[in-house]
Amino acid sequence: MIKVLFVCLGNICRSPLAEGIFKDLLEKNNLSDQISCDSAGTLNYHVGSVPDHRSRKVALNHGFELRHKGRQLQIADFEDFDYILGMDNSNMSNIKLLEKNCKNPKAKLFLMRDFDVESSPKEVADPYSKTEKEFEECYQILKRCSKNLLEFLKK
Ligand code: 4NP
Repeated sequence: MIKVLFVCLGNICRSPLAEGIFKDLLEKNNLSDQISCDSAGTLNYHVGSVPDHRSRKVALNHGFELRHKGRQLQIADFEDFDYILGMDNSNMSNIKLLEKNCKNPKAKLFLMRDFDVESSPKEVADPYSKTEKEFEECYQILKRCSKNLLEFLKK
């Protein structure tokens, strides 16, 4: 089983949406028995919370539900997961800081937009203080990157 973890700041907007998109893609490709995914945040503010209503609405608009409950990124995640994907550069800095506390890190670290066909910008912008329009844009970016990530993992 290949294990993928999507990471943002709060784990209520971007990364649970990425998880939902990627899970939906895995199910449609009959790959759920070979690849699994989860999401986490570098903050602990939203531990146990359902995703932001705007992320849930975007997901429903595109035909799937978000079932994730917020959790914070843990040191053990670096040993447990094969790939950890951060949404922006600030997430990556926080991920790398925590990685230093892990004795045997296994996970390969990437920016989500390393898998984008559009070369810039390289970040999935934080939509938390924005409107539904930015959540839809966030979905489109994550969907594009998820498809390319899946092709990468299949190789
Ligand atoms: P996310 O968005 O990192 O995409 O889940 C945010 C959600 C909450 C906060 C920041 C970003 N917050 O500061 O509470």
